Amino acid sequence: MLTLSGKEGDRGLAIVKAIELLKTKQREEARLLEQLDTSRFPQHIAIIMDGNGRWAQRRRLPRIAGHRAGVASARQVIESCARLGIRALTLYAFSLENWRRPKTEIEFLMRLLREYLRKELPIIHKNNIRLSVIGRAEELPAGVREDIERGMALTSSNSGMRLVVALNYGARTELVDAFNAVLEETRAHATNGELARLRVTEQMISDHLYTAGLPDPDLLIRTSGEQRVSNFLLWQIAYAEIHVTSVLWPDFNRARLLEALLDFQSRERRYGGIQPPPSN
Ligand code: FPP
Repeated sequence: MLTLSGKEGDRGLAIVKAIELLKTKQREEARLLEQLDTSRFPQHIAIIMDGNGRWAQRRRLPRIAGHRAGVASARQVIESCARLGIRALTLYAFSLENWRRPKTEIEFLMRLLREYLRKELPIIHKNNIRLSVIGRAEELPAGVREDIERGMALTSSNSGMRLVVALNYGARTELVDAFNAVLEETRAHATNGELARLRVTEQMISDHLYTAGLPDPDLLIRTSGEQRVSNFLLWQIAYAEIHVTSVLWPDFNRARLLEALLDFQSRERRYGGIQPPPSN
């Protein structure tokens, strides 16, 4: 048997520990995967990624370290959802309210987003993922807008998972924008009489939301234990199952995602009726 001494021994031990950890993680993921019914995955998962700041605070690190670790979680979740064949994944990355944060944190978040887009775009594209952004993107810094536009243009013909990043997003503002878009469209094409008789329908609203064309989220995940929807996709989550986990976003990994899927599959979805609708 090979024995290592001193520094070499310490490194050897660290490698053995890392391998063990990897095996444990893989075992946990395999156990969770085995319990999942692959024919009953949600079509659209929406995630409120919360707890980056607290994760950093607990480690006596600056808040930005939590955001950096949060990007690693986002990367893992995006890749896992694409592999599982989820149709759409929406990540709440920056809300309209987030402008209230210190300027340095906002600038760091914008830089991080640009860094992510630049580094990950080739991988996103290679995985046939189509990127889109929801929110008032026109109010974002020019550099961020350019990177987003480049990403959306490159991936626009991809037929795999839709990755939707909510940036400068607020659900009430989305509804205001949708109603105004309905009005503008009607004003442009209708006669005065038709305009006076205009009645808004649910379909008209859905068709003018930022998410038009996407299925509504059927699973909403929120990390860090907060039980709020925080102005996120208020219209679209009408029938979504909500999974709240106390895990902080930087600790949310593939196994935690699989747990959320298991939780989703344990729910009986009745849409206000008395039994689940027949599956088509
Ligand atoms: C909330 O943590 C998280 C955010 C403000 C969003 C930032 C998200 C990321 C950096 C993930 C990256 C996403 C993509 C798409 C690359 P918080 O700061 O509110 O945490 P706290 O409540 O503990 O303070």
